[in-house]
Amino acid sequence: VDDAARSYPFARRCPFDEPAEFARLRADEPVALVTLPNGAHGYLVTRYDDVRRVLSDERFSRRPVRQDAVRRDPAAPDGPPGGGFDFGLSIADPADHERWRRLVGSVVNPRLAESLRPRIVARVEELLDALAAAPQPVDLMSGYAYPLALGVLCELFEVPDDLRPRFAEWAAGLRRAGADMAAFGAAMGTLYRCAGELVARARKEPGDGLLAALLAARHDDGTALSDEQLVGTVLLMTIAGYETSAVQIGNGLLALLQHPDQLERVRGGTVAEAAVVEEILRYAQAGTGFAGTTYTTADVELGAVTIPAGSAVLISLDSAARDERRLPRPEEFDVARGSARHHLAFGSGAHFCLGAPVARVELAEGLGRLWRRFPALKSAHGTDRVVFTSNLLHHFPAELPVTW
Ligand code: HEM
Repeated sequence: VDDAARSYPFARRCPFDEPAEFARLRADEPVALVTLPNGAHGYLVTRYDDVRRVLSDERFSRRPVRQDAVRRDPAAPDGPPGGGFDFGLSIADPADHERWRRLVGSVVNPRLAESLRPRIVARVEELLDALAAAPQPVDLMSGYAYPLALGVLCELFEVPDDLRPRFAEWAAGLRRAGADMAAFGAAMGTLYRCAGELVARARKEPGDGLLAALLAARHDDGTALSDEQLVGTVLLMTIAGYETSAVQIGNGLLALLQHPDQLERVRGGTVAEAAVVEEILRYAQAGTGFAGTTYTTADVELGAVTIPAGSAVLISLDSAARDERRLPRPEEFDVARGSARHHLAFGSGAHFCLGAPVARVELAEGLGRLWRRFPALKSAHGTDRVVFTSNLLHHFPAELPVTW
C-alpha cells in the first residue's frame, strides 16, 4: 500500500463548500486510495455512478463496520447493547435483510407518511408558537430542528406521554455524546429500554398505530416479527431517523439563509415545496452519513481499479451529488432545478432509506411553515459567522441563531 496516499476526510468549514480534492479525484482518480485518521487505508469513491453501484451491490457489505458498533455492556454481557448499537436485520445476510425489509416496508411506506402529515403539522405549529413567544435571537438547532425530529419519531411510534421524557433523555444524551462512544453507548441503553417498554405495551394493548401494524404484519410464510426484532426495528428507525433529520433541517435552513435569491423564490411560493426539499437533500445533505464505509466481500472491479476482497471502501454521498457528469452547475444551489434523481442522500438499492417518505414530509412541512410564519427570518449574526460541529457521522451548524 502506498504510504503517500492522501489523508481523508478532507478538511472543510461549511458542510456544503466542497473541498477542491473531490473535483480533482472525480476527474482523475475516481476510485482513490486514501489514509484514514487511524492510519488504515481505504478506497474513496467519488463519482455518482460508482457511489450508486457501491450502495446497491451486496459485495460491498456494511456488516464489519456496523458489527463493530455492536458491543455489549461489559457490566451486563447478556443484557441490552450498552456500549454500542445492534443494527440487527439491516445488516443481516442479504436474504434475511430482504425478508425483514419486505415486511417492514409493507407498513412503513408513503401512505403511512401521508397519514402522519396532520400530526407532523401539529408538531411544527406547536414549535413555531413556542419560537414566536421566545426572546430573539432564537437558536433554530436546539429550538426547532432537534425537537421537530424527536417529535416526529414520537408521533411515528405514538410514544405515550409518560415515556416522552425518557425519549427526550435519550436524545439529549446522544447529542451530548458527540464522538464519545462510551457516552453514545449509555444513551443507547436508555433508548433500548424505552423501545422495549413500547413494544411490551403494544403487545398488551395494540391500538391502531405503527407498532400494532408491525405486530400484525406477516412474512410470506405466515410468521411475524419476534419482540426482539421489533425492538431492534424501533431502535434502528429511531437512531437512523433522529439526527439525520435534525441535521438535514439545520443544513437546509442554513443553505437558504446563505442564498437570499433562492429564499426569495421559496417565499414567493413559485417553486414546489417538494422541489426545494430535493435540492436541499442534494446540495446541503447531512454529509457522508452512515452509508459512509463498506467492505468488499470479494475482489470487485470498479472503474479501472480492482478492489481486493476485505478492503474498506468509502463512498462520498456529497461528492456524488456534486458530480458534473450527472448534472450541470452542481456547485450552485438552485431550488427549482428538479434534483430528485441527482442525489443519493437516502442511499440506493436494497438499503434505500426506509424513512425517506416520512423525512420528506417532515422537511417540506418543517421548512415551508417556518418561512410562512416568519417571512422576515434572517441569520442573527450573518451566515459567515455560523460555527460548525462534527460527530462520527455528520458535519453541521452547532447553532443557528436567527431573528425576524
Ligand atoms: C433527512 C433525513 C434522513 C436521511 C438523510 C437518511 C439517510 C439514509 C441513508 C443514506 C440510508 C442508507 C444507508 C445504507 O445504505 O447503508 C438510510 C437508511 C435507513 N434509514 Fe434513513 N435517513 C433519513 C431519515 C430517516 C428516518 C426519519 C427514518 C425512520 C423513520 C429512517 C430510517 C432508516 C432505516 C431504518 C434505514 C436502514 C434501511 C435498510 O438497511 O434496509 N431514516 N437512511
